[in-house]
Amino acid sequence: MPAPTVHPSGRAAGAEITGIDLAKDLNSETFAVIQQALDEHGVLYFRNQTLTPEHQIAFTAYFGEPDVNFNALRFGVNGSPIIYRISNITENGQAIGTRRAGETWHTDMSYAKNPALATMLYAVEVPTLHGLPLGGTGFANAAAAYDALPQSMRDAIANLKGVFDFRGRKRSSPVSAEDIAKYPPVEHPIVRTHPRTGRKSLYIVRDDCTAIVGKDARESQALIEALADHIIKPEFIYQHTWQQGDVVVWDNCTVQHRAVQDYDLPSRRLLWRTTVKGSVPV
Ligand code: OGA
Ligand code: MN
Repeated sequence: MPAPTVHPSGRAAGAEITGIDLAKDLNSETFAVIQQALDEHGVLYFRNQTLTPEHQIAFTAYFGEPDVNFNALRFGVNGSPIIYRISNITENGQAIGTRRAGETWHTDMSYAKNPALATMLYAVEVPTLHGLPLGGTGFANAAAAYDALPQSMRDAIANLKGVFDFRGRKRSSPVSAEDIAKYPPVEHPIVRTHPRTGRKSLYIVRDDCTAIVGKDARESQALIEALADHIIKPEFIYQHTWQQGDVVVWDNCTVQHRAVQDYDLPSRRLLWRTTVKGSVPV
């Protein structure tokens, strides 16, 4: 088997890994290369993979415990609660997946006490227009954004907590009263320390983060908007252009992401999604 090779994207985040067939078991040296690259680059992509749902779940499990997502209860692949479809496709008038998921910048499950450590998508169908690939995914490196802050801002935000509220964001798919009850507002530090590398990153998002603890509404909003906008400056961004067969995995502590909604039916988009359970942010 060829050795895995890491090719940095040349942007602020992202690296391609070649030389690995993710449908096969990985030995510990190979996985160590992958983990190290994810710690360093925040986003990894593997091209030309051919996976079954079981393969994707098995690869996800190398990173940690696969998590159940509330969307999987409706859109699970083969009824699984841990791998579900993101798609704009309808069959017999019914959506087969969550449509228009994550259109604005965010980090996954920040509304939860234990937000997702990592998220993985596998591209089954990629929308195109006359051969032009559409429906990309943007990634912003929130650790690089933290590093670029002036020292006075770092000092000002060092011990602040944000209130993250499941109801803050307009969601693409309906949410039940049970979902809302399951995720009461939660406080997270707005500067997070990476659980593996110790690197600091900004953890603040418009809409999901509704207030800063101890600040009035005006001050809270000013800080949320200034920092959220800072994270998504062009110098911190890698935008992934999907090809069918791509597997992309990202670290939700290090990067934020968003789906680019520049396509529509009859161009079809279908991705399978898994997540890895995370720890309480510190
Ligand atoms: C997600 C997400 C982006 C995309 O799955 O969490 O935000 O491009 N997806 O589909
Ligand atoms: Mn997301």
